[in-house]
Amino acid sequence: MTHKNFIPSVYSNEITAGKVTYKSPSNIALVKYWGKKDNQIPANPSISFTLDACATTTSISYNKLASKSSDFSFDLLFEGKPKEEFKPKIKIFFGRIESYLPFLKEYHFKIETSNSFPHSSGIASSASGMSALALCLMSIEKKLNPEINQDFFNKKASFLARLGSGSACRSIEGDLIQWGAHSDIAESSDLYGVKYPYKVHAVFKNYHDTILLVDKGQKQVSSTVGHDLMHNHPFAKNRFAQAHENLTKLQAVFSEGDLKSFIEIVESEALTLHAMMMTSLPYFVLMKPNTLEIINKIWAFRESSNTNVCFTLDAGANVHVLYPESEKEEVFQFIKNELVAYCENGQYICDRIGFGAKKL
Ligand code: PMV
Repeated sequence: MTHKNFIPSVYSNEITAGKVTYKSPSNIALVKYWGKKDNQIPANPSISFTLDACATTTSISYNKLASKSSDFSFDLLFEGKPKEEFKPKIKIFFGRIESYLPFLKEYHFKIETSNSFPHSSGIASSASGMSALALCLMSIEKKLNPEINQDFFNKKASFLARLGSGSACRSIEGDLIQWGAHSDIAESSDLYGVKYPYKVHAVFKNYHDTILLVDKGQKQVSSTVGHDLMHNHPFAKNRFAQAHENLTKLQAVFSEGDLKSFIEIVESEALTLHAMMMTSLPYFVLMKPNTLEIINKIWAFRESSNTNVCFTLDAGANVHVLYPESEKEEVFQFIKNELVAYCENGQYICDRIGFGAKKL
């Protein structure tokens, strides 16, 4: 497939008004996407667990205009209130996807969106937000062209979400999504995320992710700036090669349920992401002292308890604590006893692997 497959020909139906709602989850990368080419093409492939509790719900009410307008026409409400500062991002997104959804200037849209997690939690809402928006728009396109099948619908929703925020393309389906061309996975593509197509051992079903909110402040580095720092980065070439190798290694790990190797790959990926930011110019340390306290506590507990708890990080100070369903009581007790003290205002979010977006 190329991006041209997503440019529609004339629509068979006419619709004047309607409303559509989607709830779309966030995701947590196991192999990280960090570095991109033009048009949100990833510099390396990545894989993520789709989450369940951290989600965005978006509704779009649409009304056909008397004639096509010269600019995008939309209102935006966040948590019930008009939110002007979010509009420029959506306008840019509409501009990027207009050639794939040529009806965008023919309607007025009222976009109402809300997150299941607190806005100022330091949890990125771009993956869930952009995927929810892309799914609503695809739903409108499906009304204009009912022949669109589910496979194409999901691929195009992922393709559009990617143009909003790269990692958003991994939030359409679940529970394990790969994005980015990889030689071992024939279906994989730089254009959209696909469901991981090979065997996954039962131990990875119902995996838990407790998100420890270490620092709820604004992100120190936006992901746009972060991705850019991978251009001319002295270690970029090796890092991109390492992501390919880790994805290859994960195939056996997923099929055999090899948790020891899973932990090694996932924690190494998290630390490598941060190492890339520490060694770029300008350089950034995105962990906080409490991030390191938590990591050390996790290592000590894993050693003493013989459990398989591990961590991963996004481009920030919060820690995602990952553990299998069979160890949930023991690990959650440990989190409450020993880790919550390091969270800002004691805040954390109990999440788990999820199965993708839902139409409401
Ligand atoms: O989707 P973006 O452009 O916000 O990039 C997200 C990058 C990481 O969250 C750090 C890693 C990933 O693969 O999700």
